[in-house]
Amino acid sequence: MHISAKDLAALIPADFTLGVATAAFQIEGALTEDGRGPAGWDVFAAKPGSIVEDQSPAVACDHYHRMPQDVALMKQLGVDSYRFSLSWSRIQPTGSGPVNPAGLAFYDRLLDELLANGISPMLTLYHWDTPLALDDAGGWMNRDTAYRLGEFAAIAAEAYGDRVARWCTINEPATVTTNGYTLGLHSPGEALMLNAFPTVHHQLLGHGLALQALRAAGVPGEIGMTNVYSPMVPKTINPLDKISASLMDLAQNRVYADPVLTGKYPDLVRAAKFFSSFEHPDEDMAIISQPLDFYGLNYYMPTKVAVGPGEGAVPASMAEAMGSDLSAAGSGGTPFHVETWPEADITSYGWPVKPEYMKVALKEMSERYPNLPPVIITEGGASFEDIIVRDKSTNTAFIPDERRLKYLSDHIQAALEATGPGGEAESIDLRGYYVWSLLDNFEWSAGYKQPFGLLHVNFETLERTPKASYFWFQELIEERNLVTVAETAVAQAMEPDTLAEPDTLAEPDTLAEPDALEGSGVEHEAGV
Ligand code: BGC
Repeated sequence: MHISAKDLAALIPADFTLGVATAAFQIEGALTEDGRGPAGWDVFAAKPGSIVEDQSPAVACDHYHRMPQDVALMKQLGVDSYRFSLSWSRIQPTGSGPVNPAGLAFYDRLLDELLANGISPMLTLYHWDTPLALDDAGGWMNRDTAYRLGEFAAIAAEAYGDRVARWCTINEPATVTTNGYTLGLHSPGEALMLNAFPTVHHQLLGHGLALQALRAAGVPGEIGMTNVYSPMVPKTINPLDKISASLMDLAQNRVYADPVLTGKYPDLVRAAKFFSSFEHPDEDMAIISQPLDFYGLNYYMPTKVAVGPGEGAVPASMAEAMGSDLSAAGSGGTPFHVETWPEADITSYGWPVKPEYMKVALKEMSERYPNLPPVIITEGGASFEDIIVRDKSTNTAFIPDERRLKYLSDHIQAALEATGPGGEAESIDLRGYYVWSLLDNFEWSAGYKQPFGLLHVNFETLERTPKASYFWFQELIEERNLVTVAETAVAQAMEPDTLAEPDTLAEPDTLAEPDALEGSGVEHEAGV
């Protein structure tokens, strides 16, 4: 069971954002329309064997053509904010030089549509879809890409600065380095192992230069960046497992967070051989560690680590869900590896469902970085295969995704408890939680096989169907709104001069309820 929406709403502090998130490449489609230039991901995805069943991102959710409908679904959901990313090559087709007015115009329309519907925009500049021309010039191995991101930020600031409430410079540089350049699972498909280190530094520099450009443009919105954080758990008390877990912590968490939040790389990283062979100007660190208005944290799961090469760098079952056989990467002799959680509930990806580690993540962050700016959980969610229940008599579909719903409820609860009064990470000023994701979408190398959406997408008809988790999130937001209205009314009543307005407490609109499913006409279909 999970906490009721009403009780969960009661834990939510004032001015806490409840939002949903997506990324351009995962939802837009329309890859060759209106002057969009190719991204490295277009080419990577077209290579046979890169994506599960060679599925194509060409149409994805067709959001490019269905944007107003998707915003209407968000409006109905009631979210405070929508986090989306720009397709860099739609706006600047080669990643440098002239802009494409038709590309700029798409996000103009999106921003206007969001604001007209009372949804606050959070814009991510870079969510992995590097323009192909930049990838061809070395991608994130090339320092110049960081400057190009800075330039792109200036373009976006000028075009959208008046309407964006929150800016996120980059999303999860750790995943780009690990999957894209270390193991070759994502675009650009490089398996450079430790030689991928320059991509860490250049992405962080790109973040710093983008931040600088946004500040220089004087955008009124808040500015931050997003790192993924996974607490590292040694498999056993064996000291070698413990050392392995701390090395993994360095490589996946601290090497990205320390420079941004403390202005330096962890000592061990600096002492390491691969680092000393990589030179960068000292001034970079000041650019990377400029003050942030918020720190974005994506939390999905903890990671269990053990010494030795194991069956591969990551368990075969997890690699398989991503469409890859990583045993080769592991048997090459990685000194430690990721383990499965046989005792835990797992998602379709094989990721352990461990909301208690959300608390661990926040606690570790608060201890490591005492001067942490306000934190926003910019992503959290789970992939589970969905079952569609159809009432034949009314032809209405319902998707009872109880496990996703519980995942979200438990994780939001854990985050609120940890940062609430007396919590493990009480010192953190937590400002929001964005559900990954609004829509089932193109889940990178896993294609359409790992659905994370609150909305089911039928990838043949492109029809969107709200899942039970959508209705639950809607209810949570309505309950939260009731608490807010009640608190405002109480505050007004306490004011000697102000009369409490009784009708501010009126009932909210009735929830859109899925049609009743009882009766002989109900049948089950496999998820599409
Ligand atoms: C990424 C998303 C991705 C999600 C689920 C995050 O790492 O930012 O793009 O879809 O995880 O894998």
